[in-house]
Amino acid sequence: MLGSLVLVVLVGWSGGCGMLSRPESAPTDTPQPSPTHTSKPLTWDDLALTPPMGWNSWNHFACNISEALIRETADAMVSSGMLAAGYQYVNIDDCWMASERDTDGTLPPDPGKFPSGMKALADYVHGKGLKLGIYLDRGTETCGHFPGSYGYEVQDANTIASWGIDYLKYDNCAPAPGSSLVADYINMSNALKATGRPIVFSMCSWGFPGSWVAGQKVAHLWRTTSDIQDTWESILKIMDANSVPAVFAGPGHWNDPDMLEVGNGGMTDTEYRSHFTMWALMAAPLIAGNDLRGMPQATIDILTAPEVITVNQDPLGYQGRLVGNIEGKTKPEVWSKVLSGDNAQAVALLNRSDRAAEITVKWAELGLPDGPAKVRDLWMRTDLGTFASGYTASVPSHGVVLIRVESAEGKIPAVTPAS
Ligand code: GLA
Repeated sequence: MLGSLVLVVLVGWSGGCGMLSRPESAPTDTPQPSPTHTSKPLTWDDLALTPPMGWNSWNHFACNISEALIRETADAMVSSGMLAAGYQYVNIDDCWMASERDTDGTLPPDPGKFPSGMKALADYVHGKGLKLGIYLDRGTETCGHFPGSYGYEVQDANTIASWGIDYLKYDNCAPAPGSSLVADYINMSNALKATGRPIVFSMCSWGFPGSWVAGQKVAHLWRTTSDIQDTWESILKIMDANSVPAVFAGPGHWNDPDMLEVGNGGMTDTEYRSHFTMWALMAAPLIAGNDLRGMPQATIDILTAPEVITVNQDPLGYQGRLVGNIEGKTKPEVWSKVLSGDNAQAVALLNRSDRAAEITVKWAELGLPDGPAKVRDLWMRTDLGTFASGYTASVPSHGVVLIRVESAEGKIPAVTPAS
């Protein structure tokens, strides 16, 4: 039943997976050095060739949002160095909309929170060299009890495209009676594709939706878990759950273990460094969820760590996974992400336990023959030397050491992320 539904809807889309050209009437933005504004026409498949990087309002602000907050966040994304580090999207989550649709069905923003309207806000954000994201829900209500998009998919997709929106998070609350999750998400996916505007589509259905979502290019990313909390336990739980569908990640389609909690105050900087490292290693979208205005330097240093971000944005798009010490949840763990070129892997030595530990990675665990391999510490940005058969580091409780291992001897076994 589901299979035939998917087939029917996908046949409808099959002619549309080509180029998205901007319609004549699309709003013109300040020219930016981004794919949206280059002369090469964008395809749906081009939109998230590496994991999206940005910010989202929910984790820190919940419903306390306004156009002033979004403008100030865009300003802070530039002044903090996050734009230069690769962050692009400023994403408004739930509670931005009015409590009712207009009589013609259009969904307007709350005039108290966004008095200048979304088009003006998009223009402002684009003027900073950034992109603007927004939130809708596939049911009759959002999780915050604002109007849902069920039955209004085409109208809402056209509305957000006319504002110049670049990214849509599509939530899963209040499904309409008799509706199907698969059909609802495919309907919005098709509606977005039909607008002609390149809009990243982020599914939020709180669990891996199934292989259909990756293979059929329905969405660019999909939540794999329930909501993240600003605690160490939540980070570990989500990390483990997000690893299960690792084989479905690849350029253009990513497992999403939820937005970051870095800088929100519930964890130590050591724990936040581990959180950021593991999201980077899992090729997760890096969507900050803290208040970017007036961040302490330690938070900026985590969010903009250049060599950690390089691991996340590696064009091979391989989702890193556990390769060593897999017997128990409190054991030290070795995770590896195969990188493009150079026979290199990024390796995280993660200490989940409450005591400092020595953690060793053996080259054999990485599929490498014994023999010299160069090791670089990616947080310290320091070459550590050449090691014959493995590397050992002291790792603090709840901490991580992230290294790049480059073999001089043997090829890393070929891996191909899902296409
Ligand atoms: C759900 C989502 C969250 C957030 C809230 C908003 O819980 O999973 O990420 O979008 O809804 O209400």
